[in-house]
Amino acid sequence: MSVWGRGMRKPVVAANWKMNGSLELCECFTRKLARPEFADVWIFPSALHLASLTDYFRDSDIATGAQNVWCEPEGAYTGEISAMMVKTLGARFALVGHSERRAMFGDSDAVVAKKFSKIAEAGLVPVLCVGETLEERESGLAFEAVHRQLNAVEDVWECQDYSHEVIAYEPVWAIGTGKAATAEIAQEMQARIRDHIDRKGSGKSDELRILYGGSVKASNASELIAQNDIDGFLVGGASLDVDEFNQICEAVKS
Ligand code: PGA
Repeated sequence: MSVWGRGMRKPVVAANWKMNGSLELCECFTRKLARPEFADVWIFPSALHLASLTDYFRDSDIATGAQNVWCEPEGAYTGEISAMMVKTLGARFALVGHSERRAMFGDSDAVVAKKFSKIAEAGLVPVLCVGETLEERESGLAFEAVHRQLNAVEDVWECQDYSHEVIAYEPVWAIGTGKAATAEIAQEMQARIRDHIDRKGSGKSDELRILYGGSVKASNASELIAQNDIDGFLVGGASLDVDEFNQICEAVKS
């Protein structure tokens, strides 16, 4: 039995600030963020604040990542940043396939797959976000939607050495709504995702960390993390308050 109780999967608590945050928030996190030994803590600030936070946390266990990158290494893409730029800063991760990007910015399955490859090729760890819409869940097509999103990336796997290390299951209907998935719903889907990875061989399924995201708060984190296949959280709204975020970190202590 390992120290983490679920194989060798150390829990992760990741902050997705989205288009929020300020120098004051960065400064507050540098002063007050907990440094738990029992969890990995990752911060995904806006691209504007990524350099300073990465620099500040450089010699610590806190890691940073980009919320989005473009799918070319460089060139005339006004307003975009590349995975290599993020890597050069010293950040370690990049989100890809977040439902807000899929719904609002044209990140189709094909674009997500291309971005995923660029992130991996640059030497960053892609955190692939997948999740069904309310309509898909209500029509009994939740698993199909998530499998389609996983397959889209795996089928065009361009980076030969790469396999999934982190996936975030984020049901669209739970994001920013205050209504998290129940522990049972999240567990059921996350077990299906692990099973899919196992059958496809697109990652070491017992080492793969599958995060849950969607209205995670200090008050529901303990119940969710108690599930076998929930290895941590991608936290949006509640990550903008360092005290609440620290409480979520505390909740993943087994
Ligand atoms: P939320 O967002 O915690 O505000 O629901 C989660 C996410 O979109 O990653």
